[in-house]
Amino acid sequence: MNILVTGGAGFIGSNFIKYMLQNKDCNIVNLDLLTYAGNIKNLEGLSENKRYTYIKGDILNRGLLDYIFRTFEIQIVVNFAAESHVDRSIEDPEIFLKTNVMGTQALLDTAKDYWKLNLADKYSKEFEKGVKFIQVSTDEVYGSLGPSGYFTEETCLAPNSPYSATKASADMMVRAYYETYGLPVCITRCSNNYGPYQFPEKLIPLMINNALKGLSLPVYGDGKQVRDWLYVEDHCSAISAVIEKGKSGEVYNIGGNNEKENIEIVKLILDKLGKEHSLITHVKDRLGHDRRYSIDNTKINKELGWSPSYNFEEGMEKTITWYLENVEWMEDIVSGEYMRYYNKMYDGR
Ligand code: NAD
Ligand code: TYD
Repeated sequence: MNILVTGGAGFIGSNFIKYMLQNKDCNIVNLDLLTYAGNIKNLEGLSENKRYTYIKGDILNRGLLDYIFRTFEIQIVVNFAAESHVDRSIEDPEIFLKTNVMGTQALLDTAKDYWKLNLADKYSKEFEKGVKFIQVSTDEVYGSLGPSGYFTEETCLAPNSPYSATKASADMMVRAYYETYGLPVCITRCSNNYGPYQFPEKLIPLMINNALKGLSLPVYGDGKQVRDWLYVEDHCSAISAVIEKGKSGEVYNIGGNNEKENIEIVKLILDKLGKEHSLITHVKDRLGHDRRYSIDNTKINKELGWSPSYNFEEGMEKTITWYLENVEWMEDIVSGEYMRYYNKMYDGR
């Protein structure tokens, strides 16, 4: 199985590459532009692995995509490459459109042309050949829930942030390539991931870093917004199940069955690190802030036999331990461009 992973130097992509190399018989090509969010150190130890190739480049570079498909005879695409942070999308939406929408379309076109030309008469039997385009999407495309209810795959798309609007747009293009050209696709929509190697612009690593340094912990608004937290390794095993058993043209929601209010998480981090709750500072709320996300996992559970294996306590224990043991990884990030970002977003908020 020859897999092209895009965005594999980011948080989820790097965890996924390691998970697959450890657990599955596959060759992986990782195409990543190394934006601010990409970090080659997330993949340390893999450079000698003969089943792994890293290529620095842009998913918008069609010439490069064509070269990669032909050279490595790509059968599976897992598209993680994206601009992924809601707050940045509020500041500057344009790069989100370029990467998340146009980039996905460039990948779709390349897969369509390569698979059609090279698998010709087998094209209609794509699953026997194990050919599949997996679009890693998000539950944020469904918008915001009230205090009850869950997102199912039938929930209407109603994205509220520039980020989620571009992810929903990409999903629509993926669907169109299935309906129009018969491209074998699956779309996965997961909830908030957490775990090792997450960039500290996101809630959990940002709060761990600030708590360790005795800095204030900036909670947006009342902190009662709810997310459904998924340990990253569970997300990796879910995508692996979709590669193996997912049906073409289908959407699969992936959630952690772990609904938590932001404020609960922040307090848990402070308690685990032995720090005072007085470090919590409520700051101005995010514009258009979604109140609650929650995933109904029934479809992926029934059809692919997947369910999350970590509960929140275990996942947080592993996550906090990882950050404590990898202070250098965090320091490399926060000593650079990151502080300019942090000051811009949080000073005087
Ligand atoms: P991330 O920001 O940590 O990593 C994104 C990676 O994509 C980086 O390595 C970056 O260098 C790369 N990249 C960006 N633009 C690129 C381009 N034009 N060409 C090639 N590479 C490029 O993101 P993440 O948290 O690992 O998320 C991965 C995917 O999962 C995204 O598509 C995101 O929308 C989705 N997702 C994430 C979460 C979450 O909680 N993190 C939840 C739901 C869905
Ligand atoms: P985030 O990790 O950015 O993920 P998403 O916006 O994709 O859900 O944020 C998770 C929640 O935490 C969200 O409700 C916003 C909130 N949050 C804060 O309260 N303070 C912060 O500094 C950050 C980064 C997020």
